[in-house]
Amino acid sequence: MELTMRDGHSKVAVDPAEQAARRAGWSAGAEAATAGDKLHHKPFLFKHGLATSPLFQTRHLIDVAREASKRPGDVYFDAGKIDITDKWGNIPVPDMPVDAVIERILTAQAWVIMKHVEKDPRYAPVLAEFTQFVHGLAGPEQSRDILNPEMLVIVSSPGRVTSFHFDAEINFLVQVAGTKDVWICDPADRSILSEADVEDYYSGNITAGKFRPEFQDKAQHFVLHPGDAVHIPSHAAHWVQNGSEVSVSLSLNFEYPQWRSNVYQMNRIMRKLGLDPTPPEQSQIKDTMKSAAYQAVRAARFGVNRLKALRSAVPQGQHS
Ligand SMILES: [Fe+2]
Repeated sequence: MELTMRDGHSKVAVDPAEQAARRAGWSAGAEAATAGDKLHHKPFLFKHGLATSPLFQTRHLIDVAREASKRPGDVYFDAGKIDITDKWGNIPVPDMPVDAVIERILTAQAWVIMKHVEKDPRYAPVLAEFTQFVHGLAGPEQSRDILNPEMLVIVSSPGRVTSFHFDAEINFLVQVAGTKDVWICDPADRSILSEADVEDYYSGNITAGKFRPEFQDKAQHFVLHPGDAVHIPSHAAHWVQNGSEVSVSLSLNFEYPQWRSNVYQMNRIMRKLGLDPTPPEQSQIKDTMKSAAYQAVRAARFGVNRLKALRSAVPQGQHS
């Protein structure tokens, strides 16, 4: 059911029966038997039925973007001609509201991302159903490490590039409208990302890693059409180029448990001390010890910073 609002924008009604009819129909097809083994390690393709859902048509996404922009940090957009080698943060941000950017998306060379779209009750069932699908592929043991599902919606202009980067999250890129060429590297290939690059990322540098032209031959290349989706493993460097139409895609992603981030950050400290630390997931004992050690380091840093803040709040001459 579709309602027309007073402001002229259409709005999708919350109707449980209609929601059920819009079920995405996630299917790993021929990959179903091996997808659980590939999870976290190799990309794999799968299918969905969201391309015909009214939920993800641009006119509804304008309302979603407007709502998301009321939540601090849940909308990001930029516009400009981007190269694979460009870094986040160097791309111009248009001086207009997000709904105006989406209305101009055909020609704006823009990239709009809306985070936590599952907070809208109309969209929550899509993510809940997808989480069940992923847990079914993963099996009960792996599912314990697939946490905190999130739905991001990305609306981007024809030809727009997403530059070389990698993410900590376990990601699934779902193509709803338009096409995308996607290149995904092997997350275990240390000629693409070094251990130090990954440690750098976890220590706050979200643009860690550097593209080199030979990566083009090393990466797996996928062409996504509406109805296609691909798994992008955590730490798999990737880059994307849209086809000749406006692209609407979803990033459905999950977090790894916190201990892995702790180990990378502890390894960075050890590397700065001249050591050559063992990467995570090679020794459970070392991982447990390093994660605990990093938590102690973090607590000590917090204590020192708090003490400094208290001291600076006390007027000079009264420290004793
Ligand atoms: Fe990404």
